[in-house]
Amino acid sequence: MQTLRDCGDPTDVGLAGNPDNPLYRPALEAWLRNAPAMKPMAPDQGRGMPNLGLTQDQIDDLVAYLETLK
Ligand code: HEM
Repeated sequence: MQTLRDCGDPTDVGLAGNPDNPLYRPALEAWLRNAPAMKPMAPDQGRGMPNLGLTQDQIDDLVAYLETLK
């Protein structure tokens, strides 16, 4: 049976299940799906990542690739 302990230290940002982990999958997918929805662009300040219009397959491929960079 899986217990809370199996999830590891919730403060360890190195763990994939921690929402603060840069590679936390739901957040990474949401960012790649529509970045400006998570953090509005500010072109006047030279900042912002556009919505790239990626397909789910492209998002899956990118997440898999980014996870290899750990
Ligand atoms: C397939 C292509 C791309 C991938 C996989 C990608 C991925 C990412 C990721 C993972 C982040 C970090 C988000 C975070 O803070 O956790 C990021 C941030 C950012 N990206 Fe992209 N990106 C791509 C294309 C682009 C393009 C084409 C642009 C600009 C034309 C861009 C501009 C930015 C900017 C400005 C940020 C920083 C946003 C901020 O924190 O203010 N990215 N990107």
